[in-house]
Amino acid sequence: MNHSAVIFIFTFLLAGLEALPNFVLLFADDLGYGDLGSYGHPSSFTPNLDKLAANGLRFTDFYCTSAACSPSRAALLTGRYQTRSGVYPGVFYPGSKGGLPLNETTLAEVLKPLGYATAAIGKWHLGLGANGTYLPIHQGFDHFLGIPYSHDQGPCSNLTCFPPDIKCYGTCDVGVVTVPVMHDDTIVQQPVSFPDLEENYVNYATNFILKSAQKKQPFFLYYPSHHTHYPQFGGKEAAGRSARGRFGDSLYELDRTVGKIIQALEDSGVLNNTLVFFTADNGPELMRMSRGGNAGLLKCGKATTYEGGMREPAIAYWPGKIQPGVTRELATILDILPTFAGLAGAKLPQVQLDGFDMKPILFGNGVSERKAVFYYPIDPSETYGLFAVRVGKYKAHYYTRGADQSSTTPDMDCSPSAVLKKHDPPLLFDLEIDPSENYNLATPDNPVSKEVLEMIQGVKKDFEMGMVFGESEMNKGRNPALEPCCKPECTPKPSCCTC
Ligand SMILES: *[C@@H]1O[C@H](CO)[C@@H](O)[C@H](O)[C@H]1NC(C)=O
Ligand SMILES: *[C@@H]1O[C@H](CO)[C@@H](O)[C@H](O)[C@H]1NC(C)=O
Ligand SMILES: *[C@@H]1O[C@H](CO)[C@@H](O)[C@H](O)[C@H]1NC(C)=O
Ligand SMILES: *[C@@H]1O[C@H](CO)[C@@H](O)[C@H](O)[C@H]1NC(C)=O
Repeated sequence: MNHSAVIFIFTFLLAGLEALPNFVLLFADDLGYGDLGSYGHPSSFTPNLDKLAANGLRFTDFYCTSAACSPSRAALLTGRYQTRSGVYPGVFYPGSKGGLPLNETTLAEVLKPLGYATAAIGKWHLGLGANGTYLPIHQGFDHFLGIPYSHDQGPCSNLTCFPPDIKCYGTCDVGVVTVPVMHDDTIVQQPVSFPDLEENYVNYATNFILKSAQKKQPFFLYYPSHHTHYPQFGGKEAAGRSARGRFGDSLYELDRTVGKIIQALEDSGVLNNTLVFFTADNGPELMRMSRGGNAGLLKCGKATTYEGGMREPAIAYWPGKIQPGVTRELATILDILPTFAGLAGAKLPQVQLDGFDMKPILFGNGVSERKAVFYYPIDPSETYGLFAVRVGKYKAHYYTRGADQSSTTPDMDCSPSAVLKKHDPPLLFDLEIDPSENYNLATPDNPVSKEVLEMIQGVKKDFEMGMVFGESEMNKGRNPALEPCCKPECTPKPSCCTC
């Protein structure tokens, strides 16, 4: 081959790479349906997210798959229900033996073969394991900067959450090591310095964007934020800046991050070739009262299968590609993997996927291929199966239960005193005329309800016949020796793990 042919092929390859879109996936934590200004909150200060919503597509009916962190994250990154991957019941802990199984294919692993640069920045919470077995760098991400689990999974009562020295509110989890910050698989700080955390993340994220753009390498940035999970924290730019107290400050810090990431995309000239998607893992932790999130007009919050637990704000933003507007179509976090894969032309993993490509909603006729949403409790089992099913505008509850995380509001259905209850016939709500799930339609004098319930029952039965539960990763248990420690040989653990 002569020289010019080589150059020609090289240029051709580069042009091919350039054409691949970049992806930025922003994932908030314990953020409620009613928390953003653009979703109706009167005192939240979220100018950057509101700008994304105004110039992008805002979803009104977007769902996570579990009202708890780890299972939702597993579903997001695999496009499969957490029941398949075994990421249930509940969440991972610092000493958990299990993690998202390595043979599951993550979104990063889907994009990697096409030459994508990949980074995960923030909260992982899909396992750590012996020698960091389950860290992002073993799940398709080139780099990881963050905390391997929730930032309340270590004692925090003596830590500073806001400058100059405002202590974190509450004790967080005691009896385990203090929360570490890791770079790839190395602990770089323990305990975490909350006032500096977001700035370190943003710097890393913007550098990742700039470097990838310079190299003309397509990239996937996964930014699972710690905000707005308990305990609220923030740096000097956020502390005291919102009208909504500590929660508002923490949310504002997340909003600033979004602004800086968009700015970095613009500065590096790739904004018009990047799909930015924002959503959250589960509903608000109402038990934190005014220091927790808000589900707006939706019922209950975190850890329940009411709408407040699982319906989330969601925004798709791609200037010049996605028409600004609002969609009421059904979509879920399961649909992100097939959508990104479709846009990149990546090969889908050869396993049972549960998502639908959202391209028709984002760029096409606006109609979702998804017709149903399935609600598993945070401790799913084959015995009980689904707690609720939504088909079109109707939602049927087969079981309901309150939760600690949703206590403290006046609605007694949300608190733990509302124990597990089977409904036969199921409770039935029309979420279009009654999004707050107030008025049960399954009453003897309503003949329509019988027909609708039969239709939903059929959808439920088909779904459950196709569901194979994977072995539970949480039930593999915990071992304190696996808790991350910056001084591996020190004793006594956990108190000696401070660097
Ligand atoms: C991963 O391996 C486990 C154990 O062998 C198996 O049960 C499971 O089906 C595998 N999952 C996938 C997605 O291949
Ligand atoms: C971690 O790896 C080291 C070196 O390979 C090994 O000696 C050690 O047993 C491993 N630790 C665990 C908990 O598996
Ligand atoms: C916080 O600091 C106090 C005083 O140094 C100490 O007695 C206490 O054990 C510390 N608490 C935690 C959870 O580390
Ligand atoms: C994106 O913008 C740049 C410069 O602003 C322009 O050269 C390029 O053609 C645009 N790309 C697309 C896909 O619109």
